[in-house]
Formats: sequence, C-alpha cells, structure tokens
Amino acid sequence: MLTSRHLGEYWSFGFPTLQHSNAPKLQFHYLHPMKKHLVITADGSSSIYIPEMDEHYHSSNGAVQEALHVFLENGIKLVEAEELNIFELGFGTGLNALISLIHSSSTEEINYHSIEAYPVDNELIKDVNYCNLLGSNHQSSFDLMHSCEWEKDCDISDTFSLKKIHSKIEDYELQENFYDLVFYDAFGPRAQSELWETDILEKMYRGLKTGGKLVTYCAQGQFKRNLKALGFSVKAMPGPPGKREMTVGEK
Ligand SMILES: C[S@@+](CC[C@H](N)C(=O)[O-])C[C@H]1O[C@@H](n2cnc3c(N)ncnc32)[C@H](O)[C@@H]1O
Repeated sequence: MLTSRHLGEYWSFGFPTLQHSNAPKLQFHYLHPMKKHLVITADGSSSIYIPEMDEHYHSSNGAVQEALHVFLENGIKLVEAEELNIFELGFGTGLNALISLIHSSSTEEINYHSIEAYPVDNELIKDVNYCNLLGSNHQSSFDLMHSCEWEKDCDISDTFSLKKIHSKIEDYELQENFYDLVFYDAFGPRAQSELWETDILEKMYRGLKTGGKLVTYCAQGQFKRNLKALGFSVKAMPGPPGKREMTVGEK
C-alpha cells in the first residue's frame, strides 16, 4: 500500500521504493493526490504549499513580487525580440504564464510552452487571487489558460499563445535552438535535486537559441557550477525581496 512516506520519497528521490520492489509500476496520477493547500504570501498573493514536501510553489515573501522580479524584470524585459519563445519548467498555478501574457499585450508576441507533470486541481485554481492583484480584466485569459487542452497551441490572446505539456521533464525533449528564454521554476534542489543536475539542464541548453537565457530564482552554488560545465555563462543577479541572489545563465 502506498503510504505518505513513499510519496515523500517519490518527490525527493524518484520512485526508489517502487523501483526496487516487484510491485506493478504505478503511474504518477496515483501519486498526484498529494495534499496541496492554498496559502497567502507576504505580498497578499496566493501560492500553494505541499506539507509532505514542506515546499511552497513560490517565495513566501511574495509570489507575485517574486515572479515579476525573476521572470519579468530579469527575463522577458532583458531579451530584445518582436516574438519570444519561452519554455517553462513547472506550469503550476500559471502565475508566470499570466505575467508573460500581460506583458505580451504591451510589447512583443509570446509563444509560451510550459511543462507540468502534476497539474493543480481546478478546485484550488479557482481561489487563486492573481487577477485581483494584476487586473481583473485578465481573469478570462487566466481561466482559459487552465481550461485549454494539453499538448495543443492555444491562442489565449492576439499576442500570447500557450502550449501546456503534460509530462515529466525527464521524459521530454525540447525543440533544439528554439527558445529565447527558459523559466526554470522547478521545486528547489532540497526537494528535487535531480532537476538541478546536468542531465536535465542539458535539455534546456539544447533547447535555447545561442544568446538565449535560462532564468531562475535559485542561486545554489552546485547548480551554477552545473550550468557552467554545460557551457552557460552564469550571472548572479540580485534576488527578489527576502533573497540575496537569483541566477541567469546565457547560452
Ligand atoms: C515551484 S512549482 C512551479 C510554480 C509555477 N511556475 C507557478 O507559477 O505556479 C514547481 C512545479 O513543477 C512541477 N514538477 C515537479 N516535478 C516535475 C517534473 N519532473 N516534470 C515536470 N514538472 C514537474 C510541480 O508539479 C510544480 O507545479
């Protein structure tokens, strides 16, 4: 029987108990019902907390504040292009997609591809308050982002198209030399160390155009050394409130 302890191991280390037993291989949707709680962060914006992992989807100092600082100010705004291709690891609540959509309407067109292995239930999403803070006129676009079909390009607005990919990143290959930006928004190395190692980061490197950038809230030393080993040039940038640094890697 699958216990909460197994679920914890699954998240931290990837199926160790299941792989080494003779039990039939379980699909991730059996593991999906891990309890998720909606919480309010310090800037008043929603986030999700997973008690079994002791992990938040965003900074508890402010989810919207963090997303704007890391992915907009140090991501989208630093790339000059009339059309931007963005790949995101971890669609989650759709916050990064929403801030990208809002930005796209004032400047460039954005093609946004986001991978998510464990989609958040609509029951939680309906109480997320991002549009109260970022503009209630975006609510219908935000709802469409969550209701649109997986694996298909969906026009959310005239300037923003979204493709949600329902897969583990381990099982997915990015289109090569295609992306201007990667939003690397996995859970932190403490919870998911394997997603910060070179096997997965190399997929991002291959997917980026030359000059393209990987942007993340994470500033861990080993992660930055892994980026350098793959050929990224790595810059530490000031982090969002409550965090000294964040990282931008350029191909
Ligand atoms: C830090 S949260 C992302 C937050 C999200 N960008 C947002 O704005 O709400 C990390 C996300 O990565 C997803 N995830 C975890 N492991 C994954 C994997 N191996 N492949 C793809 N997605 C994964 C989680 O389900 C979660 O939604």
